[in-house]
Amino acid sequence: MGSQAVRDLRSLKIIDTCPGDRLIARLAVRHVLGKVLVTDHPQSGFRGESLIVDPLWEGPALARLMPSRRRRLSLDLGTGCGILALQLAQWSDHVIASDINPRALAMGELNARLNSIDNVSFVQSDLFEAFRGQIFDQIVFNAPVGTEFRPRHMLEAGEAILEAFFNAMPHHLAETGVVQLNLCFRDWPGDPFVTRMRSWIGPTDHAFGAVLLRLWRRSSGPRFFLEKALGVLRAGPEALSCSAISRGIMTLARSPLPTHSEIDVNYHQWPPQATTRHLGEAIVAAIETGADENLRGLIGSMGRLNPI
Ligand SMILES: C[S@@+](CC[C@H](N)C(=O)[O-])C[C@H]1O[C@@H](n2cnc3c(N)ncnc32)[C@H](O)[C@@H]1O
Repeated sequence: MGSQAVRDLRSLKIIDTCPGDRLIARLAVRHVLGKVLVTDHPQSGFRGESLIVDPLWEGPALARLMPSRRRRLSLDLGTGCGILALQLAQWSDHVIASDINPRALAMGELNARLNSIDNVSFVQSDLFEAFRGQIFDQIVFNAPVGTEFRPRHMLEAGEAILEAFFNAMPHHLAETGVVQLNLCFRDWPGDPFVTRMRSWIGPTDHAFGAVLLRLWRRSSGPRFFLEKALGVLRAGPEALSCSAISRGIMTLARSPLPTHSEIDVNYHQWPPQATTRHLGEAIVAAIETGADENLRGLIGSMGRLNPI
């Protein structure tokens, strides 16, 4: 490839160069759940850029877990390349896909067109800001929260974004609605995340039940201590008192018994879509009836979905 062509592709942000002048693709085209999705390439080396679009790290797992009851209006917050919105479009009359990042919205619109999906609107919004007074039947939020103590870009918004989400969410969810998040959170000594989450949700007419399928929890070991040490560098010594960091997919729905279950799974090894879709429905049923024994049985019986 001539140097002018490389310059053109770089200025159009189609390719990047890494140290050593190696050329790498900036965008990747993925085939997920029967859809073609264009998004940023996971190795394109520009994580420091604020307009990065999620290269589909955890989105496919969340997309496969979504319960698929018929819905009128659904919301995908932080839509990125649109993977969750395009999935919701299959059983929703209409979907609103929103993001604070205009580059993500452009990518999402492109993906909707590529897949001939026309019941999704893309709206720029900081969380629920653009949706005052609107009620949704299903809300999904692959939250931009990792193990960071000090956010660096739009995929690392820290716990503050979870607090803002849980504060607003009850005012936007239909009575029979369901919420799913992919999230990472910290437990502090004497102050588990779930207690903070309940205080953010606040008193509502109907309590919420929640099931967390936990991908991992770190409370000891070299990696955890490294994360703590990095935390001190980024956020000061108080970060050291954090007692565990967990990541997982959480489902919430209104429940007669406001239970909270945590189940260890390895969702990177989930079997094909049909089985996990069944799991998504089973989780909602477990929350709505306040009984999760069946759920644990189901997870145990799903072969490769064995608890870890
Ligand atoms: C982890 S990515 C998820 C992307 C996509 N939903 C997926 O599953 O692949 C989180 C998304 O949240 C967006 N985001 C960050 N802060 C936001 C905010 N305050 N309001 C709305 N979206 C936000 C980011 O731009 C990013 O697209």
